[in-house]
Amino acid sequence: MSDMTRRMFARESLSALTAVALIEALAARRLFGRDVSPIVDGWFRELDLISREVHDHKVKDVEFQKKLEDLYARVDLPALLKTLDFDRIAAGVNYPTHGAKSLPVDFKNVSGLPTNLVFGRQIFAMKRGRSVVPHGHDNMSTGFLVLNGTLRGRHFDRLEDNKDHYIVRPTIDRSFQPGECSSISDHKDNVHWFTAESEHAFIFNIHVIGTDPGHVKKPGRVYVDPLGEKLAGGLYKAPKITYGRANELYG
Ligand SMILES: [Fe+2]
Repeated sequence: MSDMTRRMFARESLSALTAVALIEALAARRLFGRDVSPIVDGWFRELDLISREVHDHKVKDVEFQKKLEDLYARVDLPALLKTLDFDRIAAGVNYPTHGAKSLPVDFKNVSGLPTNLVFGRQIFAMKRGRSVVPHGHDNMSTGFLVLNGTLRGRHFDRLEDNKDHYIVRPTIDRSFQPGECSSISDHKDNVHWFTAESEHAFIFNIHVIGTDPGHVKKPGRVYVDPLGEKLAGGLYKAPKITYGRANELYG
């Protein structure tokens, strides 16, 4: 083989190898898409649909809670994790000393969703013993879905909303595993508090605001100490506190 022929041969071989690598990469993308996207795309479209119903006041918030928990219960968790690029997100978390870190969620891998989503979304990440601190919610509905790790999850019904405190009744207090969920509205399980029991824990969250048409308050979180003062009948007086105090007490 002459020098010229050898150089041409080497160049062509390299091009062929590059082409093979490119084709394999494309095939992997197509495979990824075929295996994961249709399941998750449909799930996200349903999430968008039911969020829009409660946002537009076509269904009541407690009905939305049922639909959301039903949807969460049908999640294909490995597919959702792939779509959220969970491994990359989890590898880069700078865990706070107290409380939970709120991480942005990207739906760029999901097709068929409108650009004007009516629900906010995030992932909460925390290390063992740290919490999404206890808080109630005004005029909003939210749902938690455990992505990874184990947490102790507590909920309380808000029976009274006074100037400086709630009166609450414990409703849920149990361990939550990956794929398990809970939800919030002004009318059911309004206060929640999640504490990581594993080395790290991750929760997917969506929230829709303005879900209670008769509500006079702006949508938002209200930090409380749900164990502030024990009352008769299993109830608690839960003082309203600052985010800083909630983190000191329970973060
Ligand atoms: Fe919340």
